[in-house]
Amino acid sequence: MKILMINGSPHKMGTTALMMEKFMQGAKEAGHEINVYDAAEELVHPCIACDACRKGNDGCVFKDGMEILNPMLFQSDIVVFVTPLYYFGMSTQIKAVIDRFYANNTKLREMPKKVIVLASCGDTDDDTFDALKHHFEAIWKYLHWTQIGSVYALGMYLREDIEASNYPAQAYELGKRL
Ligand SMILES: Cc1cc2nc3c(=O)[nH]c(=O)nc-3n(C[C@H](O)[C@H](O)[C@H](O)COP(=O)(O)O)c2cc1C
Repeated sequence: MKILMINGSPHKMGTTALMMEKFMQGAKEAGHEINVYDAAEELVHPCIACDACRKGNDGCVFKDGMEILNPMLFQSDIVVFVTPLYYFGMSTQIKAVIDRFYANNTKLREMPKKVIVLASCGDTDDDTFDALKHHFEAIWKYLHWTQIGSVYALGMYLREDIEASNYPAQAYELGKRL
């Protein structure tokens, strides 16, 4: 299967980066093709709700990093959303990408995709991820996409925290059993 990983963390050596690496290792061993889109590296202008994408035939007015993402997105069978928790939500970098799905809403809603979430946060309270989980669920419902797996890593402020945890192993297993 074709897997697209959308990375929303600016940390090259961060906590989600390690989960991504392990997930990729597992998925590659299982024979899948993987593309990675680094939302923190690419220039993705925030949607300005001009609705030009609904009025004309030229799509979004911003010809930026989304031009690289969109072909990979359309062709993927599985989309993996990778994000640190920022103020109980997804990172700005990955939210900017999702907002820009707006220009292709109809098309994307007719492309049933499988979704995986890899997320980490610093706090240890059981409800820390609740808002993010609900937000993602609402988005998948709207897009008619189906979440097939996730790793929500609690209590992982730093790289050394996650290195000492079993979350990387969980990410590996998730990739391996696809
Ligand atoms: C702007 C910002 C907001 C954050 N908000 C939260 C939060 O609401 N809850 C939490 O538990 N951790 C929060 N954190 C901690 C990160 O989620 C945590 O350090 C995570 O492991 C970072 O992932 P990364 O290294 O892959 O980027 C925040 C960090 C930053 C920089």
